[in-house]
Amino acid sequence: MNAIELLKSQHQEVMGLFDQIEESESEEECLALFEQIADALAAHTTIEEKIFYPAIYAGDLKDKLDEAVEEHLAAKRTIADLLNMPPNDDQFDAKIKVLREQIEHHVEEEENEVFPRVKASFEDVELEEYGTQMREMFDDLMTQEPRKNVPNEVAEAASPPR
Ligand SMILES: [Fe+2]
Repeated sequence: MNAIELLKSQHQEVMGLFDQIEESESEEECLALFEQIADALAAHTTIEEKIFYPAIYAGDLKDKLDEAVEEHLAAKRTIADLLNMPPNDDQFDAKIKVLREQIEHHVEEEENEVFPRVKASFEDVELEEYGTQMREMFDDLMTQEPRKNVPNEVAEAASPPR
């Protein structure tokens, strides 16, 4: 399992869920789709932050990856707000749109700026190994409703240990 192909397929899957939520016809359906989006993004950002980014953290990619972690955090704040909100809240749809924009930006930066450089500087066998590790961690996280950790991650980031 190639790391880049894995992450790209997860990007596509989440964008598909955003398309579905825009078309959803009931609050139950909307909530179920949001929970799928939140789980998928919580697990995706975790495998990137714990495995992929540390593995590729070098040279001129460092600044880009520091920025990506901040952008993950901004998206997690939106997810935490949404987890606290019923889908009939006036601001629910607006926050879903903002989350979609945040993720579109994430996908664009990774796919256009990070992945091509990683492809150029890592061996296929390394990318296969990171992919396998990330796939395992992702599958494991997805059995535990990973969205539930998002509010804690946001709170910890707001008051880092000194
Ligand atoms: Fe990503």
